[in-house]
Amino acid sequence: MSVVDYTDFVRRQRTASLQEVDPEVYALIQKETERQEHNLELIASENITSRAIREVVGSVMTDKYAEGYPGKRYYGGCEYYDEVENLAIERAKKLFGAEHANVQPHSGANANMAVYFTILKPGDTFMALDLAQGGHLTHGSPVNFSGILYSVVHYGVRRDTELIDYDQVRDLARQHRPRLIVGGATVYPREIDWATLREIADEVGAYLMADISHPAGLIAAGEYPSPVPYADFVTTTTHKTLRGPRGGLILCKAEYAQQIDKTVFPGLQGGPLMHQVAGKAVCFHEALQPEFKAYQRQVKANARALASALQTEGFRLVSGGTDSHKILIDLTSWGITGKLAQQVLDSVNITTNKNMIPYDTQKPFVTSGIRIGTPAVTTRGMREPEMSEIARLIATALRNHTDETVLAQVRQEVHALTACFPVHHLA
Ligand SMILES: Cc1ncc(COP(=O)(O)O)c(C=O)c1O
Repeated sequence: MSVVDYTDFVRRQRTASLQEVDPEVYALIQKETERQEHNLELIASENITSRAIREVVGSVMTDKYAEGYPGKRYYGGCEYYDEVENLAIERAKKLFGAEHANVQPHSGANANMAVYFTILKPGDTFMALDLAQGGHLTHGSPVNFSGILYSVVHYGVRRDTELIDYDQVRDLARQHRPRLIVGGATVYPREIDWATLREIADEVGAYLMADISHPAGLIAAGEYPSPVPYADFVTTTTHKTLRGPRGGLILCKAEYAQQIDKTVFPGLQGGPLMHQVAGKAVCFHEALQPEFKAYQRQVKANARALASALQTEGFRLVSGGTDSHKILIDLTSWGITGKLAQQVLDSVNITTNKNMIPYDTQKPFVTSGIRIGTPAVTTRGMREPEMSEIARLIATALRNHTDETVLAQVRQEVHALTACFPVHHLA
């Protein structure tokens, strides 16, 4: 029987590169790097992290168990994990002006789940924006735990303005007396009136949770209204406008601190992903720099410029424009579906996602709209002139979606534009 010795193998692993160890995965990462370089990334929920953040999430911080919280761990050897988690907590509190922060949720969905588990019992009623009009799966979709465990009442947007119908929110709240009202959205380009939601929640004795996964970076920079003074709980992802590693964050009033911490661990999760927690610490540090404010200001200015250029090209925008980093295009009058538009744009290296528009008559997998956002293209340095160029490229591709010659020309122009704004190859 041959005996395989592992010691040499492990010794080699200490220094061997990914390319040497696993050329298949290495090649895929190279391809993804190239894709990011040559594609115009317009998915509103994506961004490009800094090298520092990628360094942290690929560091030794991935090795250890740190169940518990700083100073109260179930494992030894957590002294540096305690320090890094404390840094993340303090920086998150400072960034958003919050009383308490829990930085351990593995994702935005987990952050929302933790709040629901803290204040709701199965069968309780909560209210949130309808998924078909901009809400998130975790805001009570029937296929998600939130719609399975709880009784959900959805509010929507007005047909005429496509803005949240706060009168309807008030009427429904009075009628259903929910225990929780959720504000926040995945596809709502406009500002949310947190003060009014608070007022309605107070009137019916409900908690208020704000899910700021999308505009968190804008809020941190003072470029979008903050719900922190109004909401009992604020949840967010850290990887969208905030430009951090993938993950979740919960902010809350001090009075709920203990309950929230207990729900996240041991209620919901086991060991925290400490490499991600360390990445969040770096993300909040980056977001506290004055340049971050300027970046977010440009994200918003770019969205406004792109919206106006798209309108000039003849597109109808849901709600007539944007107050944030994202735009929802209604393609109905162009006679193409969101599904087809996404495919055509993909073929010319413009990455978007198909999306339902309010009162859509198409199925969710087809849709009448596409959602686009400016965080990633702003990260790579693009400004207003490039936004006009992008609007022209989108319009040309969609107007000529059956003409391979025109599509090839657009693809070349996208290539030329992206080449001027390197993502990773910038030395
Ligand atoms: C409003 C909102 N909440 C929660 C989430 C869920 O975040 P994650 O994908 O990290 O679970 C998202 C993600 O798209 C979102 O847009």
